[in-house]
Formats: sequence, structure tokens, C-alpha cells
Amino acid sequence: MTSTTQQPTASELFAQALRYENRADPYPYFAQLCRRPVVPEENGTWLVSGYHEISQLLRDPRVSADRLRQEQQPIRKSLLMEDAPRHDQLRHQVTEQFVPRIMGLRDHIDDLVTGLLDAHTSRRPGQLDVVGDLAYPLPVTLICELLGVPREDEPVFGSIARRLTRGLDPVETQTEDELRELHEARDELVHYLEGLIADRQAAPADDLLSGLMFGQGSDAPMDPIDLRVTLALLLIAGHETTVNLIANGTLALLRHPDLLARLRAEPDLVTPLVEEVLRYDPPVQMSGRSTLADIDLAGTTIPKGSRVRLLLAAGNRDPRRFSDPDRFLPDRPDNAHLGFGGGIHYCIGATLARTEAQIALTALARRLASPGLVADPPPYRENAILRGPDRLMVSFDRLTPEPRSV
Ligand code: HEM
Repeated sequence: MTSTTQQPTASELFAQALRYENRADPYPYFAQLCRRPVVPEENGTWLVSGYHEISQLLRDPRVSADRLRQEQQPIRKSLLMEDAPRHDQLRHQVTEQFVPRIMGLRDHIDDLVTGLLDAHTSRRPGQLDVVGDLAYPLPVTLICELLGVPREDEPVFGSIARRLTRGLDPVETQTEDELRELHEARDELVHYLEGLIADRQAAPADDLLSGLMFGQGSDAPMDPIDLRVTLALLLIAGHETTVNLIANGTLALLRHPDLLARLRAEPDLVTPLVEEVLRYDPPVQMSGRSTLADIDLAGTTIPKGSRVRLLLAAGNRDPRRFSDPDRFLPDRPDNAHLGFGGGIHYCIGATLARTEAQIALTALARRLASPGLVADPPPYRENAILRGPDRLMVSFDRLTPEPRSV
């Protein structure tokens, strides 16, 4: 129902942005929301869609990362939903293990990309599903290797991750079947991770799981519940985000043949290009918070105890921050987008995700002759928050062999 002035309400615009029918292009609704950068929904949740307002809230200690309602509270929260000082302690333990393990991975990622392209294009010459054949298996292989999850368990875990991440979407967009699947997936995940932890307890290895479990340097061993929750967070982040960055980047390149040609001639373009994908079509479209105090923002007051949705995808196209926001322009200066969030919860996997996307997009540009989209827009996944294509079929004339692959 629209209001008497015929202006859609914030709730109506947000509902439109979430509708599956608008999944390929929710941005016109975000643009309308962005004109009212801080606005309450009828249900009391606040929608924040201005770039500066989102940035401010991401850094405000009066804003909690715990966005769950009381009745949804798990036994133990992951660092993503914890506040300082507990957040900082957990994050420190994870980064101590994570950062050294991702350094020097570039050649290995290159080899994985070469292998994936070679394998799939020889099986189905002339067509490639960029999601199923490259963008999904690449980050999944890497995160499983880093954490120490056996690669052969991936199908079991992939199915759990897919059902769980649908649970991140606003509850009103989910069917009863999906909600039931969510509970089943949670139980399966706990069961799976308990088995994995028990195996590693019996036989430690040189992986992140063992590092967290037994502690290292100044860090004490992580307790078993934190370990389970942290593993789940990393595994899900590794499964369900970078896939969208690579797929959205491929879409942008194939929709802008001039940029594809430029990337072939100027490989360094890939760095700003991936940043522009993170701004223009971000794999994580929004996040949530709750307020611990009354907060004055953009001429209004968000009352203490409110739930807040930070619409990162809207802030990334805020015309008050980015000129010509609806154009894909890798050369734009000062592209400090919100794609990886900001403040103390800034994405831990940002460097890994950027490297994977840069290598994958460079390889696609270099190796596929005359690539084209088979369907534009492609079919999208159901998820509204972790948003991206379900399949991305690309046709091409031939695959140029890599020196290493012949
Ligand atoms: C393109 C890929 C990715 C995108 C767009 C992305 C995006 C984000 C965003 C927006 C946040 C902040 C959420 C908030 O403030 O509420 C975040 C946090 C986080 N991300 Fe990522 N992420 C990506 C890949 C990864 C990967 C590959 C990993 C790890 C394997 C990862 C691990 C994390 C963790 C652990 C946090 C929580 C950090 C904290 O709370 O301190 N992410 N990510």
C-alpha cells in the first residue's frame, strides 16, 4: 500500500529491493532509499542507506554488532556479532592464524585457476559456467585448504552453507520450508564440525584449525565452542562471498567490452576494476547492527535498542559520495567503497578475496577468445544479502592455453 502522496514508503522500497523479481537489479530501489539516508520502517527497524551515515555507524562504539533478536540468540556468537573487548580478542586469534597463511598464495591461486579453466573447457568446449566451473570451486578449495577441511567433505558442507546463508536474509522473505531447512542445516553443521574438531584433536596438522585449537605464540588455545563458531563463520564466508565477486566482475567485464579489451592490454587495470565491482555490485549487500544509546544522525534520532540495517549496496551508490554512481568506472579516484564493511569488523578475508578475483578475472580476459553472455541478466540465487548469479553461462570461440597448461 502506498501512502496518500503516492510516494512509496521506506518499507515498500526495501521490500521491492528484496523481491526475487528484482534480484538482477535492486539498485533503483536502493537509489530511492538513499534520498532518505536514515529512515525507520513501520516495524521499528531503521534503514541506513547514505554512505557517510553507514560509515559513521560502522565506527560508533555505541552501536553493537549484535543484530539478532533476543529469541534468536545462539549459545555463543561469532566475532562478527561480538563487540569489544571480546570481539577484539577473538579477531586477534583468527588474524594471527589467517594472515601468515594467505601470504605467498598467489602462485597457488594461479595454478588453481589454470586447472579449473582447463578442466571445464575441455569437457564442454565453447561454453563455461563461470559460477559452477570457476567462481565457486576456487574459493571453496582455498578455504578448505587453509582451514584444514578435507576437500572430499565439500559437497556436504557446501549444501549446509547454502541453506544457512539463506537464513541471513530478512525472515519475511523466507518460506516455511526454508526456515525448517535452516534449523536442520544448523544441526548438521554442529555435528559436522564436532567430528572435524575431534579428528584434529587426535591428529594435529599444519592448518588453521589446529593453530586455533592448540594456540600459538601469545594466543591461548581457543575453547571448543568458540572454535566451532569461528570455523563456521570462516567456512561460510569462504563459500558464499568471493563466488559473487568473481561472477559479478565477469558480468561487468562482459557488459563493457571496452574494459575487457583494456584489461587484456593493461593487466594492472584489474586492481581498480575489482574495487569498482565491490562498489558497484557488492557481494554482501547489507549488514545489521543494534543501538546501545540514542544516536543522532542525519537530522533524526535512532532510539536506543533499535535494530538497524546498513545498506552497503545503497551507500556505495550514494551520489553525495560518488559522482556518476550508476556507471561502472574502474578509473574513479578515491574509491573507498563499503564492500568489505568498515571499522573494527572490516572483512578479515578482504586480501584473499581480492587476490582470487584479480587472478580469476585476468585469466578469463586473457584466455577466452570472443566471450559473450549466454543470458543477460543471468539467473540469480535466491539470497538477497549474499547476492549473485546462480549460473553464469559464457560462450567463447576458443580457450587460449596457458604456457603451464600445455
Ligand atoms: C568478496 C568477498 C567478501 C566480501 C564482499 C566480504 C564482505 C564482508 C563484510 C561486508 C564484512 C563486515 C560485516 C559487518 O560489519 O557486519 C565482513 C566481515 C568478515 N569477513 Fe568477509 N567478505 C568476503 C570474503 C571473506 C572471506 C574469503 C573470508 C574468510 C575466509 C571472510 C571473513 C570475514 C570475517 C571473519 C568477518 C568478520 C570480521 C569481524 O567481525 O571482525 N570474508 N566481510
